[in-house]
Amino acid sequence: MGAQARVFVTRELPGGAVDRLAAEHDIEVWPDRLPPPRSELLARAPELEGLLSLLTDRVDAELIEAAPELRAISNYAVGVDNVDVEAAAARGIAVGNTPDVLTESTADLALALMLGIARRLAEGEAFVRAGEWQTWEPGLMLGRDLHGATVGIVGYGRIGQAVGRRLEGFGCELLTTSGRGGVPLDALLERSDFVTIHCPLTPDTRGLIDDAALRRMKPTAYLVNTARGPIVDTDALAGALHAGELAGAALDVTDPEPLSGDHPLLAAPNLLVVPHVGSATVATRERMAEMAVDNLVAGLAGEPMPNAVTPRAP
Ligand code: DGY
Repeated sequence: MGAQARVFVTRELPGGAVDRLAAEHDIEVWPDRLPPPRSELLARAPELEGLLSLLTDRVDAELIEAAPELRAISNYAVGVDNVDVEAAAARGIAVGNTPDVLTESTADLALALMLGIARRLAEGEAFVRAGEWQTWEPGLMLGRDLHGATVGIVGYGRIGQAVGRRLEGFGCELLTTSGRGGVPLDALLERSDFVTIHCPLTPDTRGLIDDAALRRMKPTAYLVNTARGPIVDTDALAGALHAGELAGAALDVTDPEPLSGDHPLLAAPNLLVVPHVGSATVATRERMAEMAVDNLVAGLAGEPMPNAVTPRAP
């Protein structure tokens, strides 16, 4: 076994993976429910050799520069938009993420959101709990069908494809678009009954679903986002919902995140929001922890991480 490295784990993780890390390295786990403040990250940086970060930690060039001993960053997420991968690569710091293990759970949630918004599940539940249910009514809480619908999948990587497999079982017509081709985005937006987002957040996809994109969607269509909040322009979405230009939106991710209870977006009609729980099942979060620890252990040993992230091609 190599020398123990000083490692900061920015939150307690489900399962026993962090114990495995502790058996090999000198670790500190941030004990709070909320992320370590920036000042805490920066205070530890000068001594840090390994970092197990979460998507809530900004691992940017400033932090990397403040950590001259840092050799390995393992992000407990598939998305790495919170990590400056280029700055890490320039310093020879290995970066890892947790792909694949969360694909199916996230795809499950995307389907749940499609059904939830189109069949008005949250509204129906609130209605019953409020004691407003008086009888069976022909026109009560009419929604729209997912089965047989045309669904546009924006980003056709692992999660987008897993969503597509599920939708085939619903008899949906699939339109897909990604960096590798497919239907042009404008056509996808115009033709889809549901638009579901599964691309990573990059400079190219930030604000991809803006005012103009939303205006292309049918007024009977739904927008679903389980990828990253900033891919959708929040103000534009709120405006489209208020104006009735969209049938509804279902979001697992928002911009900003978290969304405060008094955020104006929450005043928009026909909106279903859950708190970034796409991968939040016991099994998936434990598998993510195992993978993140495997990455960190390998990176600190100077070996290739099992799931390494490299800078995006320019
Ligand atoms: C990710 O992994 O990027 C998800 O957003 C959280 O699991």
